[in-house]
Amino acid sequence: MAPTAAAYVQPIADSTSVFKEDIFKGKVLFCTGGGSGICRGMTEAMMRHGANATIVGRKLDRLQQTAKELSEATGRECLPVQADVRQPATLEEAVAKTIEKFGRIDFVICGAAGNFLAPISGVSENAFKTVIEIDTIGTYSTIKATIAHVRASKGAYIHVSATLHYNGTPYQVHVSAAKAGVDALSAVLAVEEGPHGVRSNVIAPGPIANTEGMDRLSPKNVDKDKFNAYPVGRQGDVKDIANATVFLFSPAASYITGQVLPVDGGSEHTRYQLLPYPQSVLDPKSVAHLIKARM
Ligand code: COA
Repeated sequence: MAPTAAAYVQPIADSTSVFKEDIFKGKVLFCTGGGSGICRGMTEAMMRHGANATIVGRKLDRLQQTAKELSEATGRECLPVQADVRQPATLEEAVAKTIEKFGRIDFVICGAAGNFLAPISGVSENAFKTVIEIDTIGTYSTIKATIAHVRASKGAYIHVSATLHYNGTPYQVHVSAAKAGVDALSAVLAVEEGPHGVRSNVIAPGPIANTEGMDRLSPKNVDKDKFNAYPVGRQGDVKDIANATVFLFSPAASYITGQVLPVDGGSEHTRYQLLPYPQSVLDPKSVAHLIKARM
């Protein structure tokens, strides 16, 4: 039945229209996965509010291009460093380069992640392990490489997780297990490091438009009207995650630690399965034309 009245659509805000532009002046951000997508947007927002940043990833050319663009857009410095979160020694090197250039690390975003769609039958042991190695162990290794500096600056962590493990999401066993681990890591970090002056929180993005994650995970020809059924009336924007980042790293969030903040337009409460259920698990071939997935 057609709705009787149009739903209100929440506007997308620029962080600089709400928060002061110099709140992170003199501070330094270290961000894994900062070369693109959501983490790039989080880094840009921190730089717009005064921070310098190191962005870490596997593809140096993409990092260099992003660093150039972010510096030009914000007037702050951005250091691109090639490293793989699955190789702790490369993270240690990235931290050393950050200290050499900026002298400190105040904030860390653990954002590097891997994902693809596949039912349990299509996820090999190596594939499962690969996602755990990137998301969960990569977060652990990033914490280990940075914690001494974050303690010294009385800084904070934000871990980028997801909302899909709150329910059983088909084709996402690897990421569900990995992100549940990330949420748990953050809680322990908050408790162990709180007395040393360090806060740790998780941002759990819902579906965010124009990101690699959405491109990889959303079925083709998905009924866009479903997104309008979100309580806020629209799909997420990278700016929504950036704004939450600025708030959580700011002193305004000094009483917030050990928390998971879904930034998902309320979709956690109205969520539907992206793939038709139970058809997608009873007859995987019937959805093969909608997604790129190894069955
Ligand atoms: N379905 C099922 N298994 C898959 C897969 C898919 N779509 N893509 C890769 N794999 C498997 C590989 O076959 C391999 O397992 P195997 O040795 O048993 O064959 C294992 O995963 C590792 O793949 P490989 O390509 O060697 O690893 P990688 O380090 O190059 O890639 C991934 C890591 C798999 C996470 C890859 O998807 C990736 O790099 N993604 C980029 C980042 C990303 O996903 N961003 C989105 C964030 S939401």
